[in-house]
Amino acid sequence: MPDTSREHPMAKTFKFTDLFDLRWKRAEADLMTPLTRLYADRMDPAELRDRVRALLAEKWAARPADLRRLDLERDIQPDWFQSQSMAGYVFYVDRFAGSMAGVAKRIPYLQSLGIRYAHFMPCLQPRPGDSDGGYAVMDYGQIDPELGSMDDFRAVTAKMRKAGISPCIDMVLNHTAKEHAWAEAARAGDPFYREFYRLYDDATIPLQFEETLLEVFPEQAPGNFTWDEGMQKWVWTTFNTFQWDLNWENPEVFLAILGIILDLANSGAEVLRLDAVAFMWKRMGTVCQNEPEVHDILQALNQAASVAAPATIFKAEAIVGPHQLVPYLGAGRHVGKVSNLAYHNSLMVQFWSALASGKSDLMSHVLDIHFPDSFVNAEWATYIRCHDDIGWAITEDDAEAVGLDGAAHRRFLTDFYAGRYEGSFARGADFQVNEETGDARTNGTFASLAGLEIALETGDEVAAELAVKRILMGHALIAGFGGIPLIYMGDEIGMRNDHGYLDDPDRAGDGRWMQRPAMDWMTAEQAETDDGPAGRLWRGVRHILAVRAECDALRGDVPSRVLRTGHDKLFCMTRPGPDATVTAIYNVTDAEQQIEADRVGLNIDALPRDMLSGALPGVEEDRIVVPPYGALWLEAREW
Ligand code: GLC
Repeated sequence: MPDTSREHPMAKTFKFTDLFDLRWKRAEADLMTPLTRLYADRMDPAELRDRVRALLAEKWAARPADLRRLDLERDIQPDWFQSQSMAGYVFYVDRFAGSMAGVAKRIPYLQSLGIRYAHFMPCLQPRPGDSDGGYAVMDYGQIDPELGSMDDFRAVTAKMRKAGISPCIDMVLNHTAKEHAWAEAARAGDPFYREFYRLYDDATIPLQFEETLLEVFPEQAPGNFTWDEGMQKWVWTTFNTFQWDLNWENPEVFLAILGIILDLANSGAEVLRLDAVAFMWKRMGTVCQNEPEVHDILQALNQAASVAAPATIFKAEAIVGPHQLVPYLGAGRHVGKVSNLAYHNSLMVQFWSALASGKSDLMSHVLDIHFPDSFVNAEWATYIRCHDDIGWAITEDDAEAVGLDGAAHRRFLTDFYAGRYEGSFARGADFQVNEETGDARTNGTFASLAGLEIALETGDEVAAELAVKRILMGHALIAGFGGIPLIYMGDEIGMRNDHGYLDDPDRAGDGRWMQRPAMDWMTAEQAETDDGPAGRLWRGVRHILAVRAECDALRGDVPSRVLRTGHDKLFCMTRPGPDATVTAIYNVTDAEQQIEADRVGLNIDALPRDMLSGALPGVEEDRIVVPPYGALWLEAREW
């Protein structure tokens, strides 16, 4: 990096490299306090501080010039990711574009849809064979050779940066593949790397832990420990048997992962999706999820990046119940300092629950009482579908609050989305049925779960139209809610379930592949002019994102308040921005609904325009009319 400050009049007093010291000074306490709490008994805090600082200095020194410039831009504008024009797209590199180089060619497509954030699904070198969709990483320093090289990744991220798109990459930090060099060294008996994992000579302690642990994959990988023949030890494996949980009680693990994160940031990743973070810390007698230490680790990682790669933000993948979710965006002493994004899985679950039941009361209740209106330096990642299954995280208390039985409602949702329920429009499938509890999760693409698959199969145009409306209402919901809406690859053209995975022995055992079809480019390329569902969806999504981008009341830092109107078929919320307030109304049924304007705080005689249709909403006496599965964004400007 040339020292450009030399010609500057401030040169005598300020050097570009001073930035590192200034940033360290700003972050040191927020970084070292949690680290000292976590590791003081394993490493002298002064030594840990020196090692962390040296690592950050080394990675900052290696940071490319254009990324350092981005760092400066974001020092000046730290709320950059909260812009209402940020909208995300999530894809598998191979299934979207064949290779890293192929992704670069698709940048214009992403731009035409209004995308400003691109999540490359796991693309670091996975173990051979079944790799849990790439979530069993063998080498964090290499891109999967099937997709390209790290240089190819650098090239495509540089192109995205120029196009105003922020690349996001998965960082799997709860576990490595059992073929990772650290695991190989542990297996070979290296005492340093044995401390990287959680290993047990016999089953005594594992069995004690099992008393309170849950199972993530009860069908395909029951239990949480795996016997390793070579090592003659039990290994903690929360997910599949080939995914070895890292031992985050070891400060060396923290340092090793931090180094990897900064390397990825230096390769152009602007958003790090921290995978399965809830599981990182284990405590006997608990379910070993969401332990307070997890938030200390996340804060330390985030603060460290703010010194050596400040353009980077973190997204926590913690698919947990409403009570446990909020701390991932900052609670108590961690406010403003942990992750900048977290998946709003409750919003996703509530959307599907409302569609199936045709009622919004549970949704309004849950989204109102469990979540703050806004966060400091953080916001939601909103989504309707992703590559994973849907877990019906609805608590007994919440169900009871609206007169439902929790277990019965969860059972209803599973049946409904597996297509077993009389009159269901959905075509999905059960996932990981837990024989003991009777609980099951659900697989299926957005379009198939929302009714498009059955409608097209039966040639039922009315049903297809309803499915299109459901899907667009979902897109509007996540775009208007607050946070970055994430569109899962193919959902913008209504891609349906793909059963091709059943022919591939490495995938056949995991039903989640059903919602991971390869991109249908033929359809996508014709979507602009297509009159069928795919075209209507594509243009609808693009329109929603374009309208959103123009409305500053939809910024991520504007509060998101649920309106408790008492109407049980409309979900209503308000976004009170500085210059305008948007009242959003979503109809979760296939029938027209009406609501008195004053119940959503509006005056029937001076109703604002609906931004999505560009027209005034329909009116019946003192009531606003909301069409079947309609979404209204009523924007009242303050002047
Ligand atoms: C995350 C991923 C999921 C994976 C798991 C284990 O939940 O989204 O696909 O199976 O982590 O890495």
